[in-house]
Amino acid sequence: MEKFIIHGGIPLKGEVTIGGAKNAAVAILPATILAGGKCVIENLPCISDVMASLQILSELGADIRMLSRSSYAIDTSRVDLTEVSNELSRQMRASYYFLGALLGRFGQAQVAMPGGCNLGPRPIDQHLKAFTALGGVDSVEYGMIRVKAESLHGAHIFFDTVSVGATMNAMLAAVFADGLTVLENVAREPHVVDLANFLNMMGADVYGAGTDVIKIHGVQRLHGCTYSIIPDQIEAGSYMVAAAATGGDVTVRNVTPKHLEPISVKLRAAGCEVEEFDDSVRVRRTGALQPLKIKTMPHPGFPTDMQPLMTVLLSLAKGTSIVTESIWENRFRYVDELIHMGANIKVDGQVAVIEGVDHLRPAPLRATDLRAGAALVVAALAADGLSELEETSHIDRGYENMVEKLQDLGADIRRIETPIATITRAM
Ligand code: EPZ
Repeated sequence: MEKFIIHGGIPLKGEVTIGGAKNAAVAILPATILAGGKCVIENLPCISDVMASLQILSELGADIRMLSRSSYAIDTSRVDLTEVSNELSRQMRASYYFLGALLGRFGQAQVAMPGGCNLGPRPIDQHLKAFTALGGVDSVEYGMIRVKAESLHGAHIFFDTVSVGATMNAMLAAVFADGLTVLENVAREPHVVDLANFLNMMGADVYGAGTDVIKIHGVQRLHGCTYSIIPDQIEAGSYMVAAAATGGDVTVRNVTPKHLEPISVKLRAAGCEVEEFDDSVRVRRTGALQPLKIKTMPHPGFPTDMQPLMTVLLSLAKGTSIVTESIWENRFRYVDELIHMGANIKVDGQVAVIEGVDHLRPAPLRATDLRAGAALVVAALAADGLSELEETSHIDRGYENMVEKLQDLGADIRRIETPIATITRAM
């Protein structure tokens, strides 16, 4: 076990460089299976979800070579297994992308019910609906998902809910399906567009990603390519909020400012300065934070993955903010930790009402999931004094070198090994 020791109260200053997008990488890596050849994937973030995806590829028979810290050559020509081991499936949510990719190439796949952050129920009915429409037969027994198809054919699929995972899984399964597939009511997140661009670079015919209708003309085969993953919108947003919460001045480099607009707009409304450049944004805060109303929505709305971070920021605003979570049923579990830090937040179902306080107090903390963990790091950086954060492995799933990047911005934070969970809290 590891924990972070954070002496907060220092405004963050300087520059931070953002890595590749986790939620694009974890779909693009399984998609290399469809190439049946060699791909070079660049700008891969060095995070545990990416390492788990590479390990799954390797176990399935792919030949993987590390070219640099963020580039890997992946040859999937010898992949011949279609079952992902239980242990790796359960490590992360995104193992479900191996269903679409293996079904697309081999007509069958088996993956254990995926793990990932506990945000409430995380059904996969829309993924299975797409596989069935394309000609697959699925079964879910004893936590194991199996999909099989004699042959895959194009289909018209209208998703009942906007789902990032179901949209991307349907794209993976449909690239070789005979004829035209039309996906309606799809997710429009930047990572959906990134996956479509990668598939097209391998020779697929995917059109419309970024709108709410995607059309896919099935092709006979794909080929390998070299592809660089887009920058991570949520990692960038996390450092933007960290700058704002600590009253700092941070330039966030290697980003696509357009992808950050839903976040930039809210930071400006909260009283921060956000300057956009070609591939960087600068966030500064000198005055008081203003309260906001935020409702999480699918892209281009305000991203749910930024919700815990914004709640931390608004707990320091002058007045009452309202944050409504409309994607996940149970994404306010971290609020109890903030209340221990002196925040004044009341949660009723999907709505948090936040009465801003002058400052947060340091405290022993526990990360309940990936973004909650990042949010608590930001809270601890803003709180004057010593906080300790446990269960930081959640953070390592999605943030590359977070401790080092924050140290470069002047934060007093370090990672230490702890033999067992030692959290203590005054009652
Ligand atoms: C992706 O999860 C991300 N994970 C999540 O990021 C993110 O919070 C989420 O999209 C929304 O943006 C990955 O990309 C690996 P969804 P995903 O399918 O694809 C319902 C992070 O912190 N739904 O878009 O699993 C579902 O219950 C993580 O990086 C169905 O009802 O989310 C939810 O209410 C956490 N049936 C909504 O749709 C389905 O078959 C959106 O889920 C699928 C989803």
